[in-house]
Amino acid sequence: MAHEFKDIDPNAPAGAKLTNWFENRFPTAFDAYRVHMSEYYAPKNFNFWYIFGSLALLVLVIQIVTGIFLVMHYKPDAEKAFASVEYIMRDVPWGWLIRYMHSTGASAFFVVVYLHMFRGLLYGSYRKPRELVWIFGCAIFLVLMAEAFMGYLLPWGQMSYWGAQVIVNLFSAIPFIGPDLALLIRGDYVVGDATLNRFFSFHVIAVPLVLLGLVVAHLLALHDVGSNNPDGIEIKGPNAPKDAKGHPLDGIPFHPYYTVHDIFGVTVFLFLFSAVVFFAPEFGGYFLEYNNFIPADPLKTPSHIAPVWYFTPFYSMLRAITSEMMYVLIACVLLGAGFGVLKSRLPAAVKGVVAIVALGVIAMMLSIDAKFWGVVVMGGAVIILFALPWLDCSPVKSIRYRPSWHKYLYGIFVINFVILAYLGVQPPSPIGERVSQVGTLFYFGFFLLMPWWSRLGKTKPVPDRVTFKPH
Ligand code: HEM
Repeated sequence: MAHEFKDIDPNAPAGAKLTNWFENRFPTAFDAYRVHMSEYYAPKNFNFWYIFGSLALLVLVIQIVTGIFLVMHYKPDAEKAFASVEYIMRDVPWGWLIRYMHSTGASAFFVVVYLHMFRGLLYGSYRKPRELVWIFGCAIFLVLMAEAFMGYLLPWGQMSYWGAQVIVNLFSAIPFIGPDLALLIRGDYVVGDATLNRFFSFHVIAVPLVLLGLVVAHLLALHDVGSNNPDGIEIKGPNAPKDAKGHPLDGIPFHPYYTVHDIFGVTVFLFLFSAVVFFAPEFGGYFLEYNNFIPADPLKTPSHIAPVWYFTPFYSMLRAITSEMMYVLIACVLLGAGFGVLKSRLPAAVKGVVAIVALGVIAMMLSIDAKFWGVVVMGGAVIILFALPWLDCSPVKSIRYRPSWHKYLYGIFVINFVILAYLGVQPPSPIGERVSQVGTLFYFGFFLLMPWWSRLGKTKPVPDRVTFKPH
């Protein structure tokens, strides 16, 4: 439908006339600004945890801009890739800065996204009506992991090469299709020039396009249902207090209030980011591994191959699945199915299906190698996040009004995740193996038993209005 032209006073200032000229020709842009900025009402009690969404957007922009400049000088060729990165570092004016911003940006992205996800967990931001916001977020997390993994091959150092070799080989553990799938991913029988070329193409264009699309969907879905807040109260719900114009009394326009608030967060972030870029870009070997300053050598396997820190919690879970551990997993399946059949109130037909599926799974667990189940567990650790909105059955959203012991449980969850991350960077050891096995069981137990434990305990009364002190 054609938009009606808005008239303007002929004596209005030139700036207003120019804006009016554009608005009459591109009203959609102006409507979008109103819907998403000046008339987007966000809860007024946002705290520290609410800064990480904007920071994730900032890091996304940093990665895209620095990436564009890196591509101008980088050569996706197994013979030249390593040297082209050294050329960027030593000869291209400011090349070192661009490269360190991009490598530090990769780690910063995961720091920010992990904190952003944890905020969701704290305040139940994934619960109705924000399930899709969360699901788009989980998809972003998966795609981000693929993006980082493929980017890591590009400098063609020893860790790039052998890390990719190990991870792509995991796919060959999948029954029937595995070996062909691994061949398809590598484009060769070992990681080589063909792998480098396809990873380059995916890293610079295909995956970023998907990522951008998902981020847009994430934000549009969020703005349709409105933001959650640290109290977990719906400020736009039918019973929420509103002013004469229908704006929520517990909300404030995103612009200018939260734009200013976010600029403060961005400033603090940029201080920390610059400190790493200028003074510790390798970050003790965690952001840039020392072995990656040695050119890839297909004939020389490094003594210890470990992924970058942000993958290591999941890598630990992969390593935890030994053939011995399989018996524990089989016991877990038996226990779960036994409970479903003997104790639950499921209809008899469903109980039959549960028993048959469990027996089938156990038969597969006994016949397929533990390496494959390691891959299943590693993938499952990310996939299970998608189900969170339906696993959490607590009567209240925010941790503030849950029983106090929930806080300790979340604390243990975080400590467990950090221990798994630490073990993932260490060389394998018998003690490390045991600890990571317990940690893996805890991680899955936390999520799979959530429908049970999240209902337990006494919740605190949730107030009608958000908790807010003007300052
Ligand atoms: C590129 C990565 C991402 C970007 C740029 C991004 C951006 C944002 C922004 C700008 C917001 C609004 C501000 C805020 O609430 O912090 C937001 C909210 C949210 N994001 Fe993300 N996000 C990303 C990844 C994720 C991931 C990986 C998850 C979860 C798996 C997630 C889950 C959520 C949820 C649940 C909300 C609503 C929070 C609330 O209202 O309490 N996001 N995101």
